[in-house]
Amino acid sequence: MREAEIAEIGLLGLGTMGGALALNLAERGTRVALSDIDPDRAAGLVARAGPLAERLHPAGDLAALVDALATPRVVLLTIPSGDPVAQATARLAELLAPGDIIVDAGNSDFRDTMRREAELAERGIAFVGLGVSGGAEGARHGPSMMLGGSAAAWDRLRPLLQPAAARFRGDPCLARVGPDGAGHFVKTVHNGIEYADMQMIAEIYGLLRDGTGWPAPRIGRQFAQWGEGRLSSFLIEATAAALRSNDPETGHPMVDVIHDSAGQKGTGRWTVIEAQRLGQSASTIEAAVGARAWSADKGLREVAAERLPRGRPGGALPPVERLGRALLAGRILSHAQGFALLGAASQAHGWSLDLARIAEIWRAGCIIRSALLDDLAGALRAGGSDMPLILAPELWALLTESVAELRETVTAAMSLGLPVPALAAALSWYDSLRQARGTANLIQAQRDFFGQHGFARTDRDGVFHGHWRREG
Ligand code: 6PG
Repeated sequence: MREAEIAEIGLLGLGTMGGALALNLAERGTRVALSDIDPDRAAGLVARAGPLAERLHPAGDLAALVDALATPRVVLLTIPSGDPVAQATARLAELLAPGDIIVDAGNSDFRDTMRREAELAERGIAFVGLGVSGGAEGARHGPSMMLGGSAAAWDRLRPLLQPAAARFRGDPCLARVGPDGAGHFVKTVHNGIEYADMQMIAEIYGLLRDGTGWPAPRIGRQFAQWGEGRLSSFLIEATAAALRSNDPETGHPMVDVIHDSAGQKGTGRWTVIEAQRLGQSASTIEAAVGARAWSADKGLREVAAERLPRGRPGGALPPVERLGRALLAGRILSHAQGFALLGAASQAHGWSLDLARIAEIWRAGCIIRSALLDDLAGALRAGGSDMPLILAPELWALLTESVAELRETVTAAMSLGLPVPALAAALSWYDSLRQARGTANLIQAQRDFFGQHGFARTDRDGVFHGHWRREG
């Protein structure tokens, strides 16, 4: 080993996530070389690292980072997706040698990852798409990690990453979910489910705020109580804590001084786009992405709030404990849609995704971790990856406990004129599934009427056309 080869892994990008991941890896005994576009960041991280500093090695530019690594080299990118990843990958491809590995640990589009993996494979360099979830806390103390890449890259990376992963009852929340883009795809769908969960929680908050007039701290206490039961999850805990936080400047609840327009970096939208490409509909996720878009159109909403007629809203919300069960039903249905999408992508891309293992590695560390995911992991393990999650008997049992409340809540919200797009989408999907004979026979009739598209008959095989009346 040359004098310069002091680190087992090189980390490029020392923002919040990169810095936290570097400390986590160092804490588990890994020697990490550090580089960032801002040269002061590596030194700053080392200065704050206390006893971990001895395993952190600032390396200046990319060439110095590569030079600091033992071979075969592993370089982990924690930089924004898109152009920054493209540029760093191109530069690294010049510096690295066959057998080396580049790991993209950001929220990249899985199609970019598939392309990069194929391009670099020609040069003997492995490109790995690593979905990492858990925010800054997760990166520091144990994220959930979804790896897409070759079996050889997995063998090399597993001993480095596993000690840094979250654990659920001792089981590390790290898996090679499939080849090339599979890890980033699974992370994208994780984020889609995250969007739906956040939106449904926000809808229940909206019902309590606008339907009952409860102030934020009281709603926060209610969420904290729900978090101790079947709804137990990180996002419910985070919601309860956020609702009970005060703005130090005004003394008002923090949420009351926050502008009601939500941002999005793209993963929720990508989930919906991929669902459509695969002929699926993740309607709860679509509703959540759409609600963020409407939220951003603040100017229009302010004008419309004055001008659009409200109709004659009336009625009352169900008792509060029933709203919690409605949220549970919505959560079950949105997860079932997310897993259906994973199954469809697995088939389309030949990934052989182990859906039960995916549910297992989401039980700790990641943003959507919840008690429900443990139930879903068990159901998927028992039923096998080919069984649609929605047909798992364990799910019926949970839905039996909660779907009536979802219906009651959506109905009441609509009567009151309060928006619940994701909860309503979940319920409509459920009702569509329950309809063995749906209404698409009429869609087929319409298509044949105006476009002679043909249809299948219920009584014999083949493609047929109708004898349509042409007069009114
Ligand atoms: C996670 C999060 C994380 C982040 C996303 C979503 O799993 O740790 O999903 O990746 O929150 O960037 O952000 P947007 O809401 O901005 O799309």
